[in-house]
Amino acid sequence: MTDEELIAAAREAALSAYAPYSRFFVGCAIESVDGQVVTGVNVENACYRLGVCAEQSALSAAHLAFGLVNVARIAVAGGDGSGGSLTGDIVCTPCGGCRQAIYEASCLSGRDVQVICSNGEGSTVVRHDISTLIPHGFGPLNLKDAG
Ligand code: THU
Repeated sequence: MTDEELIAAAREAALSAYAPYSRFFVGCAIESVDGQVVTGVNVENACYRLGVCAEQSALSAAHLAFGLVNVARIAVAGGDGSGGSLTGDIVCTPCGGCRQAIYEASCLSGRDVQVICSNGEGSTVVRHDISTLIPHGFGPLNLKDAG
């Protein structure tokens, strides 16, 4: 799948977000090393702090479909999904918690997972590696000395 197709999958998924409180619709598409794609959306809650981000719901789907160890690339898009298509100018980058969750997948595979970040329109795209988004991250190896 091309970057454009992965972004399109994230933008399409975003339209199914449950975001009545923030009205910020986020979609995430994750591609496996062998080309499988799963998606996720943000799912908010009346108890605001219990909301789940799109990346974390997509990572759950990825875990079930092909395993976190096989995550290769991730696309994220966020904006206004109240119309027929996702709109908005500002590029959506993963929040700190989602960076940590992506870092876990990266540690499992030893692969520097690429994170493709898009605005709502899909017209502005910024590519990062997870090692840039979360330098000096805390991962499974940091727990080696646990009893
Ligand atoms: N959100 C995500 O789904 N992913 C991010 O990386 C940033 C924020 C969601 C959480 C909340 O539902 C809404 O966007 C506004 O913060």
